[in-house]
Amino acid sequence: MRQAPACVIHSLWAQPRSSISPQTMAAASHRCSSVLITGCSRGLGRGLVEGLATAPHPPDLIIATCRQPEGAQELQKLRKKYNNIRILQLDVVSEESRQRVVQEVTELLGDQGLNCLINNAGENILASLDDVTAENMLQVYETNTVAQLMVTKAFLPLLKQAAQLNHGMGWHRAVIVNMSSISASIHLVQDKDIYLQIYPYRISKAALNMLTKCLAADLKVDGILCIALHPGWLKTDMGGDQAPMQIEESVPSILSVLAHLREEDSGCFLDWKGEIVPW
Ligand SMILES: NC(=O)c1ccc[n+]([C@@H]2O[C@H](COP(=O)([O-])OP(=O)(O)OC[C@H]3O[C@@H](n4cnc5c(N)ncnc54)[C@H](OP(=O)(O)O)[C@@H]3O)[C@@H](O)[C@H]2O)c1
Repeated sequence: MRQAPACVIHSLWAQPRSSISPQTMAAASHRCSSVLITGCSRGLGRGLVEGLATAPHPPDLIIATCRQPEGAQELQKLRKKYNNIRILQLDVVSEESRQRVVQEVTELLGDQGLNCLINNAGENILASLDDVTAENMLQVYETNTVAQLMVTKAFLPLLKQAAQLNHGMGWHRAVIVNMSSISASIHLVQDKDIYLQIYPYRISKAALNMLTKCLAADLKVDGILCIALHPGWLKTDMGGDQAPMQIEESVPSILSVLAHLREEDSGCFLDWKGEIVPW
């Protein structure tokens, strides 16, 4: 991939990301060889797979995981079209499934390790203060927080392997992306805000944000960067029809943010434009 000289990259990094043209950003970006995404059967996960496959400098390997590969028709169509996509079965809440997929991914990657893990799979249950129960809290917490930690732990040896083979910090080396939500921002909570209808979800994502911060602090020494990302309010099964943005609008912007991550972004909560979201 054509890269801009280091001085150009550093001067770009001094500017707010939103003020840099997509062309200039593309010239300064790093290339990532392998990406694994969870929850790719539909929605944002599937959109990220397509965005990566059609990028100007696509990864060598895009590992799209989902609970039921045979039922994921749109994803299967993408695999037939792009030969760098592999689909593997992964239910993020299942230890057996996590262990199996790590073995399969290790075989696929050889000794190159994994450059980028995107913890995208997620679940929302509508529950206001009146409706919230221990059961729906625990179910969403397991999918959105516990599973992200366990998936990350399972892939850590492969992320460390990739980090050992490269220098600097970024997705050319090793990155963990936790798909969070602006609804998890404690700073932005308001009286009667719409997210008071989703207690389990926003609390699980706030915990995911803490996990992000812990991972960033713990893994810095290994050269692994970790961020929480708000992808925007998107028209998906989860986001609903009223969402202002299509997946196709968010994905190129997310990929640009990922391609330009730098050391000081680790442990940050960013949105799809690369702007900081207050914790
Ligand atoms: N859409 C938005 O506006 C929005 C805003 C902020 C953050 N996010 C976050 O972005 C991510 C993707 O959201 P989305 O809008 O694409 O949601 P979505 O349309 O509801 O899709 C959710 C995906 O997660 C998968 N999933 C759920 N539980 C899983 C499990 N146990 N194992 C493996 N996969 C599982 C689903 O697979 P199945 O098909 O098998 O159910 C599906 O592929 C989520 O983490 C979400 O919290 C979305």
